[in-house]
Amino acid sequence: MNNLKKDVILSVKNLGISFKNGKEKKIVLDDINLDVIEGEIVSIIGPSGCGKSTLLSAIGGINNSFDGEILFKEEKVSTPKSDRGYIFQRPALFDWMTVEDNIGYGLKLKKITKEEISSKVDEFVKEIGLDGYKKYHPKHLSGGMQQRVALARVLVMKPDMLLMDEPFSALDYQTRIEMQNLTLKLWELYKPSIIFVTHDIEEAIFMADRVIVLSKNPGKIVEAIDIDFERPRNIEILSNPKFMEIKKELLKKLIL
Ligand SMILES: Nc1ncnc2c1ncn2[C@@H]1O[C@H](COP(=O)(O)OP(=O)(O)OP(=O)(O)O)[C@@H](O)[C@H]1O
Ligand SMILES: [Mg+2]
Repeated sequence: MNNLKKDVILSVKNLGISFKNGKEKKIVLDDINLDVIEGEIVSIIGPSGCGKSTLLSAIGGINNSFDGEILFKEEKVSTPKSDRGYIFQRPALFDWMTVEDNIGYGLKLKKITKEEISSKVDEFVKEIGLDGYKKYHPKHLSGGMQQRVALARVLVMKPDMLLMDEPFSALDYQTRIEMQNLTLKLWELYKPSIIFVTHDIEEAIFMADRVIVLSKNPGKIVEAIDIDFERPRNIEILSNPKFMEIKKELLKKLIL
């Protein structure tokens, strides 16, 4: 891992989450322990329904009914905050707002001048490659472009962590690769820690410093593999024998 010597930013301790279904109690996550360090990218894979989104909602502060403890920057997590930015599979944009207003929305809630907002928005519009689209509304953009705006909207707030829940799974293969590259480019610039949930094993390895596998019923961490390919990475690593070996290992854990 290329992040040694850095501080732990997120610490999930003995996390357990269960839901009541009538009289029955269903344990979804059981005794999850996970530390993420500053700037680290951790991918999470696991079968559908194993609790990946449930884990992210707890870390994001959306679901605060759990056993155990989640510490973010040494404070207990209980509510959502802009220091943990969420990216969902469907871009969460305001349809009635233009690209620039969507990106600047969070900044408007902060006490900064219009000029500062506008210059930050311009910086991000450029970073995401949407120069010329500032005045567009989301419905006039492709799915990939909308997801770019969603990324900018979250990153403009300079979060310490991004929680990405299958962010590119609705996109076609090529757009997906573009979005992976864009995310890694933006990560190089701002270095947020990222928890990246995906069903795609190759994507999980390509993005991450570490890949974690969750089992189902109950969701437990059954594997954690460090991924130490140098960054910046390019698509060629997909045919690297070491990459294929890791992929095989992860696949074995997934289908067990
Ligand atoms: N609010 C809730 N109330 C009751 N059960 C819930 C709730 N949220 C999630 N669950 C249950 O918890 C389990 C895990 O759901 P979760 O959405 O976290 O899975 P997931 O790993 O993200 O799946 P997928 O890969 O399909 O997105 C499922 O059985 C789901 O039905
Ligand atoms: Mg999910």
